[in-house]
Amino acid sequence: MAGQNDKPPEQTAAWRRLAGHRRQADGLRLRDEFARDPGRAQRFSLGLERVFVDFSKNLITDETLSLLLDLADQRGLGKKIGELFSGHEVNPTERRPALHTLLRAPDGIHDTHGLSYVARQARQERDRMFGFVRKLRAGEVEGATGRPISRVVNIGIGGSDLGPRLLVEALSEFHREGIDIDFVANIDPFDIERALARSDPETTLFIAASKSFTTSETLINARRARDWLRDNGCKDPGRHFLAVSGNAAAVEDFGIDQERFFRIEDWTGGRYSIWSCIGMSAAISIGEDHFRQFLAGAHALDSHFASAGFSANIPVVLGLISIWHNNFFDIGAHAVIPYDQRLERLPAYLGQLVMESNGKSVGADGGKVGVQTSQVLWGGAGSPAQHAVFQFLHQGTRASSIDFLLPLDSNHDGKQHELLVANCLAQGEALMQGSTDAGEPYRRFDGNRPSTTILYDRLDPYTLGMLLALYEHKTFVEAAIWGINPFDQWGVELGKTLAGRIAAELAGDEAPGSHDSSTEQLMGRYRSGRA
Ligand code: F6P
Repeated sequence: MAGQNDKPPEQTAAWRRLAGHRRQADGLRLRDEFARDPGRAQRFSLGLERVFVDFSKNLITDETLSLLLDLADQRGLGKKIGELFSGHEVNPTERRPALHTLLRAPDGIHDTHGLSYVARQARQERDRMFGFVRKLRAGEVEGATGRPISRVVNIGIGGSDLGPRLLVEALSEFHREGIDIDFVANIDPFDIERALARSDPETTLFIAASKSFTTSETLINARRARDWLRDNGCKDPGRHFLAVSGNAAAVEDFGIDQERFFRIEDWTGGRYSIWSCIGMSAAISIGEDHFRQFLAGAHALDSHFASAGFSANIPVVLGLISIWHNNFFDIGAHAVIPYDQRLERLPAYLGQLVMESNGKSVGADGGKVGVQTSQVLWGGAGSPAQHAVFQFLHQGTRASSIDFLLPLDSNHDGKQHELLVANCLAQGEALMQGSTDAGEPYRRFDGNRPSTTILYDRLDPYTLGMLLALYEHKTFVEAAIWGINPFDQWGVELGKTLAGRIAAELAGDEAPGSHDSSTEQLMGRYRSGRA
């Protein structure tokens, strides 16, 4: 994401001006800004179709935004966005583009960038997926004994789990009755055994979802499922498996037929793969039409990101405000609080998106990054979160920026929904406003705690597509400013290598190696079965 000649971000004139501006912002009191500027909320809000974003409760002024927009220009953000959409090698350490936007583009849209061939291939695979989805939902996919499949267990981890799991839960109102969808991710045997205990070997289909098809957690769980089928008398376990992967040879080795193999391309990053056939379990749950709406919502956000001027561009503005809080106020955490029970898993999904993408210390040019990169992303559904962690948000010594997400409409009791709305709006107001009423210091709220409120009409597939694409592009904007590559994840490799070595030593397949005394002590305690 950084050209070879990019300066580090902190050496740009805009960054230096922002640093100077930050010193003046010490005295910025949001409640005073609101009091003296009646147009603040309207000016610091943007809308797109069914989504409305109010970012007025952040630590910004008009001057802040204008300096941040200068920073975006000086970091070449426009060019970098163009490169993302046109298939440039935006992931240089893995020597490939990142074309997840192509997966949700309608026919013909990418032909101008010379991408017609890859686009056609991706669409063909998507159509194959929808063909399978239609058959399964019609009861036409049969297990080895001829009974129709009525339960689907997605076995995958990280991006091959979090996306489909989020969709199935968030869009449960669109779920097709009569088909059970379950997920297994953890290497902890409890996970697969729990899923198997609920499965009927005659009517269950396992989706082995792994881009690499080398991820040990997924392969071990998939093998356990295959053995369980055999142990339960299944003569043809292949009829109960399907694979979504980029590794055709490994899928074949596992014993899954070509016809049951759905390809994802190497230019689809794991945490950007919900738009590909990795979404199979979710597509089975919500059906082809709804899944297409999900893609269309993301595409609407893509078009906005690719074409709107920066001051009116929602992911650009939110990404820049995040840089401001993180790099200039040293706010190291960002909470995502959906006032929407269906989005309870959104923080986990966004945790991977944001922290695996931008948790980097080395720039795309190979040099050490001189500024802070990814914030910690955390969160949980409001209102339960209010009664658990909000104390920290209101009065802790460490600040966290916050996104509140709130549907205007709910399919349920309007009065109860209204209370949900009231709670969400009250939190944003309290965090910003604070309170000086109370005498005792422990009752005091300083306020000035930044938050953004994202409203949407209702949670449907289209809107969910918009929201997820919004966060993807916000993450991209931050990476572009820092000059890091958001599309690789080398930081996960060392732990995988060491786990392999320790596993071999624990199993006695390898002679005990030399470890630090803490690791050796813990291995010894495991071997002797003593805590
Ligand atoms: O180890 C991290 C990671 O590679 C993620 O980026 C990815 O989403 C996950 O593992 C699963 O990978 P795969 O789909 O190849 O099994």
